[in-house]
Amino acid sequence: MKISIKKALVCCLLFAGATAMAQQPAIIPVPDQMTVGTGAWTIKKSATIGCDNAQLRPAAEYLSQMLSRATGYRFAVKNGKGDIRLTLANEGNAGAYRLSVTGKGVTIEGDTYRGVINAIATLRQLLPDDIESQQVVARTWTVPCVTTPDAPRFEWRGMELDCSRHFFTVDEVYKLLDVLALYKIDKMHWHLTDDQGWRIEIKRYPLLTERGAWRIYNNQDTVCMKRAAEEDAPDLQVPVARTRRDDKGRTLYGGFYTQQQVRDIVAYAQVRGIEIIPEIDMPGHSLMAIDNYDGLSCFKQTGWGKLFTTPMCPGKDTMLEFCKNVWSEVFDLFPSRYVHIGGDEVDMKNWKTCPDCQKRMKDHHLTTEPQLQAWFNHYMEDFFTAHGKTMIGWDEIIAGGLTANSAVMWWRSWAADSPKQTTSHGNALICSPNSEFYIDYQEDRNSIPAIYRFDPVKGLDAKEQQLVLGVQANLWTEWVPTMNRVWYQAFPRVIATAELGWSKPQTMNIDNFTSRLVAHLPRLQKMGVTYRIPDLTGFYNVNVFTDKGVVDVKCADPSATIRYTTDGSIPGVNAQLYAGPMTITETTHFTFRTFGPDNRKGDMVKCSYVKEDLAPAVTADSLKEGLQVAWHDYDGRDCAGIDQAALNGTYVTTGIQIPAEAKGNIGLIFNGYIDIPADGIYTFVLLSDDGSYLKIDDTMVADNDGEHSPREIIGQHAMRRGLHPIYARYFDHNGGQLRLRVMDDKGNDVQVRFCH
Ligand code: ACM
Ligand code: ZN
Repeated sequence: MKISIKKALVCCLLFAGATAMAQQPAIIPVPDQMTVGTGAWTIKKSATIGCDNAQLRPAAEYLSQMLSRATGYRFAVKNGKGDIRLTLANEGNAGAYRLSVTGKGVTIEGDTYRGVINAIATLRQLLPDDIESQQVVARTWTVPCVTTPDAPRFEWRGMELDCSRHFFTVDEVYKLLDVLALYKIDKMHWHLTDDQGWRIEIKRYPLLTERGAWRIYNNQDTVCMKRAAEEDAPDLQVPVARTRRDDKGRTLYGGFYTQQQVRDIVAYAQVRGIEIIPEIDMPGHSLMAIDNYDGLSCFKQTGWGKLFTTPMCPGKDTMLEFCKNVWSEVFDLFPSRYVHIGGDEVDMKNWKTCPDCQKRMKDHHLTTEPQLQAWFNHYMEDFFTAHGKTMIGWDEIIAGGLTANSAVMWWRSWAADSPKQTTSHGNALICSPNSEFYIDYQEDRNSIPAIYRFDPVKGLDAKEQQLVLGVQANLWTEWVPTMNRVWYQAFPRVIATAELGWSKPQTMNIDNFTSRLVAHLPRLQKMGVTYRIPDLTGFYNVNVFTDKGVVDVKCADPSATIRYTTDGSIPGVNAQLYAGPMTITETTHFTFRTFGPDNRKGDMVKCSYVKEDLAPAVTADSLKEGLQVAWHDYDGRDCAGIDQAALNGTYVTTGIQIPAEAKGNIGLIFNGYIDIPADGIYTFVLLSDDGSYLKIDDTMVADNDGEHSPREIIGQHAMRRGLHPIYARYFDHNGGQLRLRVMDDKGNDVQVRFCH
């Protein structure tokens, strides 16, 4: 019998799919089509890899090494036919391939080199997980018979790695590239310079790395180390191996890549079909350059302002020469078509008073500082173009006038017009808005669906859609000091990004993706990827019962164990094992924690099971519809101080939501009543960005306080029918989100009435 992946998907959805899916290989990203035949190819010890074209030799050697490691077979590479045959069509879609496995062997045809590499990734996933083992595994190796034509939706499926805030070694970068190749990620955007460290050797400016690659522990290091201890999280411990002593006996953190190491990494990536795009961030985020070379900043005084550092001075010719000289060396190291100039978060305050900046503006008839940055971008773009390179910048480069040919990397979710502004101007776009694709943010159960459901062409007409190059997940590493933490932050979110960037919308299905992802976890484990163990499910932050409560906690990862404490302490490897559903009769505060198969420490989650009587309703007269909301001009970091800040105005809202008038510094205090339609236990889903909390009957129902990206906290409360006093607080500084969903004890949404 033959079944195609599309049919299998339908079967799976219709019949809960266990039998149909059992035969369907779990390939990520999901291919255009995969037809599964009967039987399998059993790999013989003497199997060979043949390649028809000298261009494919590196791909064949790569495949041979990859297969040899766990099988122990040699996989000799030869010209012409082999048991695995690599061929090149040299036409069509960059990245497309056809893979055919029969009882006799494997044939791969790539439209380009990269297509062959993509087919190798699929072949790798068709093999048992053991193929990723670092040692030889004695077993039979089979590949199911399949045929698949497959092609990417987007040419850009990227991951950004910030090696400035924390440094990762050459071997660590190699390992990351190996994993990215497995998921057909074809771009690694390498953030090599920033205020916290300059990581690439520039021969003309040796101090950039002699001094600029090293720092005394900064507050990000100390916060990581504090959290490592407080949260029992070894992956947050700054590695001693990244430190050295200076001649004053101080500990310095750092590291950098020599030009030869950069060349090696670029070549390693190229074999795996991955293009590395260097980012040298300018004119902001450049403190390590400014502090080590004269003539780069407006004034002698440099350092941090309220949010950002003093930028370089585009008014000075020495600065322009420096930028061009640095890039000239960078061009030599990176064959990529694209280079990334950064251009984000420039504090232009100094430019307003700097005589050189002001003269430059006058000379070029510029009236605003953003125009001065645009002038600098244009100047640099001319230089890039003359060297055959295409410039990318963060979406701030739109301000002051977009250049003709640069590509824009959209990161500011709140600048929702950036995609339209970019593509309607005729420029290419890469989507990496922070609300979905900033994988340095803490992941929660909504993160993967948010990536998966993101629409990269939303709001664009057909012509503009052609300019969308693809999608990218960004890993900033202020709070990521180790490779294990890189894996934890990036996986599985990078895998979801890979499928979004590769697969056609008609083949994508979140439930099917989730089950394929679970099937991939043992493979990741074998590769040494300390991925984030999926969230525990089956409970809310606060769970209320009136008689007996049932604690029924689940983890989608079958290899994970769950342990818990009830005294507020952090569960260690010897904490009580959670063995299945438990009935409780008294209020109990649990801390659950997952552990990987190697006792790797996973996330902790606190939740309470609270015994309550149904809270009595209250009576109130002369009620008006809606909640009363006071907006305070609040710029603090939690809800506590809102009432101390100046009052901007009072409003009435239909529920817990931000009044249309509130902008900028937002501190809200809600007061009124909630009208409960029937006796029961109600569930309150409080989503906010930043913090919020909700009290009903003076009981804390959902505490979502503190600075954070969009996050849901879910609590319950038992109530009698009628009016109950409700009180909530919320704060944010740049737009934010606030939403409350109410559900009854059957999980159905309830439209409740609010009054005051
Ligand atoms: C950025 O996150 N500043 C690009
Ligand atoms: Zn200046």
